[in-house]
Amino acid sequence: MDAPPSGPSVPAVPIDRVLVVDDDDLILRALARILEGAGFEPRCYREPEKALGALAQDAPLVVISDYMMPEMDGISFLKQVRARLPSAVRVLCTAAEDFQVAAQAVNSGEVFRIVSKPWHQQELLATVSQAAEASRLRRENERLTREVQRQNAQLRDANLRLDEIVRQRTQALLEGLIAALDYRDAETQWHSRRVSLYARRLAQQLGIQEPELTVIEHGALLHDIGKIGVRDRVLLKPGPLSPEEWTEMKRHPELGWALLQRVDYLRPASKVVMQHQEKWDGTGYPARLAGEAIVIGARIFHVVDTLDAITSDRPYRRARPFPDARAEIVRCAGTQFDPKVVDAFLAVPEVEWDRIRLDVETVAVLSADLDPAPRGSPEELVQALAGAARA
Ligand SMILES: [Fe+2]
Repeated sequence: MDAPPSGPSVPAVPIDRVLVVDDDDLILRALARILEGAGFEPRCYREPEKALGALAQDAPLVVISDYMMPEMDGISFLKQVRARLPSAVRVLCTAAEDFQVAAQAVNSGEVFRIVSKPWHQQELLATVSQAAEASRLRRENERLTREVQRQNAQLRDANLRLDEIVRQRTQALLEGLIAALDYRDAETQWHSRRVSLYARRLAQQLGIQEPELTVIEHGALLHDIGKIGVRDRVLLKPGPLSPEEWTEMKRHPELGWALLQRVDYLRPASKVVMQHQEKWDGTGYPARLAGEAIVIGARIFHVVDTLDAITSDRPYRRARPFPDARAEIVRCAGTQFDPKVVDAFLAVPEVEWDRIRLDVETVAVLSADLDPAPRGSPEELVQALAGAARA
C-alpha cells in the first residue's frame, strides 16, 4: 500500500465538524446519529466547560448547545464560544417554554438560529447546513481579509524599499552635481553643504515642516549649480569682472533653474535656485523681486549665505567671528533680508550654527583623509550621475 501523502495536516476539504453540548445523554446520542447520517462529524460534550476546553482543538464549523444545563445556560456558553472561536456559527437548542429568552439571544447576535425541542429532523439538518455554510463563508472572509492585510504589508515594505532607493539615488545625484561644480570652483562644495544645513535649521526655526524643509535644503545646496554654465574665464577670473562678464555671471541662477527642471524631484527646489540672488528691497537679480514675492527658501538662503561668507576664510581675507556676521545680518534686516527671517536667525543660539559648521568640517577632513582626490574622479562623477539618472 502506498504511504499517505505528506504535507499539511489540514484536510484539503474542510471537515464539517459540529460540536454538540447537552447535559442529556440520550439527546446527545440522538443528535450525533442524525448529524453523522447527514455527513457531519459530531463532537459531543455533556459539560459546557469541557466543550470550551476542546474548542480550539475541535475547531468546529457549528456549535449546537442546549439551553437548560445545570452548570451554565446555553446563552452564556455560546457567548464564550463566540469570544474564543468567532468563526464557529452558534445554534441554540431549546424547549418551547424558553423560546422567548432564546429569541432575545438571536436578536442580540449571540446565536445564529434556534432549534426547538423536540426537533423536526429535516428542519434541524437544514439549520445545521445553513450554519455550516455561514461558517465557511465567515472563514473564507477572514482568510481573504488576512490575505489583503498581508499583501498591504508587502506593499508597504516595497514602498519603503523604493523610497530608500530613491533617497539614495537622490543623494548620489546631489553629490554628483555638487562635485561637478566643485571641479570648476573648488570652494563651492563645503560652502554649499554648510548653507544647506544652515538653511534647514533656520527654516525649522520659522516653523516650516517637511517636505518644504527638504526643498529648501536642496535649493540651498544647489544654489550655485548654474555656475557650471559660466565660462572659466569669467568664473575663475581673479580680478574684477567687466560689465559683460557680470552679465554672464548673473545668468547662473537661471542656468541652475533650467538644469533642475529636468529632474522631477529637484524641480521644487529650482525656485530657490532661481531667486537666491534676489534681495528683500528689490535690488537683487535676475528679476528684481522684492518682499514676499521672493520664495521663503530664497529669503532664508540669503541670510545664511551671508553668515557663511563672513565666517569662512576667503582667498583675500581671513574668516571673521560670528558676532561680526550677526551684526551685518541685523544691519541689513529690511534691506537685503526679510526682517522676520532675521528675527528667527537671532533666535537660534550661536552654538547651533557652530555645531553645523563643525559637522561639515569634520566630514570635509574625513573625506580628504579617505580619498586622495576628495573632489572625486571624472569617472566617479559620471557613475554617480548615471546612477541617479537610472532612478
Ligand atoms: Fe549665487
